[in-house]
Amino acid sequence: MSRFKDKTFLITGGARGLGAAQARRLVAEGGQVLIADVLQEQGQALATELGARCVFQPLDVTQPQAWQHAVLAAERLGPLSGLVNNAGVYRPLPLDQVTVEEFERHVRVNQTGVFLGLQAVAPVLERHGGGSIVNLSSTVALRSAPNSIAYTATKWAVRGMTKAAALELVGKGIRVNSVHPGPIDTDMLLVRTPEDNHKRTQQVPMKRLGTADEVAGLVLFLLSDEASYMTGSELAIDGGCAL
Ligand SMILES: NC(=O)c1ccc[n+]([C@@H]2O[C@H](COP(=O)([O-])OP(=O)(O)OC[C@H]3O[C@@H](n4cnc5c(N)ncnc54)[C@H](O)[C@@H]3O)[C@@H](O)[C@H]2O)c1
Repeated sequence: MSRFKDKTFLITGGARGLGAAQARRLVAEGGQVLIADVLQEQGQALATELGARCVFQPLDVTQPQAWQHAVLAAERLGPLSGLVNNAGVYRPLPLDQVTVEEFERHVRVNQTGVFLGLQAVAPVLERHGGGSIVNLSSTVALRSAPNSIAYTATKWAVRGMTKAAALELVGKGIRVNSVHPGPIDTDMLLVRTPEDNHKRTQQVPMKRLGTADEVAGLVLFLLSDEASYMTGSELAIDGGCAL
């Protein structure tokens, strides 16, 4: 399949987990991918495995200057067609144990990182006549979740920024949508105990975790022209958690 032939995408947090699954599928479907992450060894290993159409670039999404380098590196592969703001951090803690530093760490990576991504990539997509941006939010931005005030605050912000950016960029041919996964089987869930993860899984109507590949399928749909009439939308992929 060559849905993304000669199209170039930038994926933050692409060294592992959901971002890595998106990179694999994009390359398999003919696309070119810049994976940008703070995990240099894993990012470089994935790029080497995926071949010439995948390049790794170190990027801390909280650093505006580093975004400029990442965009330039992506454009060396080809004109950018889209961005996935996928990088994120999650540390569940009860309200009375969240320090200001921990709260602000979530804000910097999950919220400011997405803002900086929109700001760095939108003008480039505009120059190319348009494109697609997908922001990874979470089901916690559709309803509440225990012990996650910092994470929840930032994922609601991602949902809100998606709508603000979608409206602002619609006249420039740029679509912006958010994806809201339920619990997905990646290293991010290792911050919880196996017992907590088991309990969480039992709360999912489908009684299982989602896979990174299932989320990648939805992200690629939104990146593709098949989603040409979609902007500002929020799509849950959560095994029925919303029921
Ligand atoms: N796994 C889940 O259950 C789940 C559920 C809902 C939403 N999400 C969201 O999906 C996205 C991907 O999560 P995942 O499950 O693959 O997690 P993960 O922890 O496996 O991957 C996150 C990636 O982001 C990178 N990252 C962290 N801080 C960064 C920074 N400052 N700059 C650049 N990269 C940085 C990490 O190095 C890592 O590669 C996140 O935004 C997460 O909040 C995940």
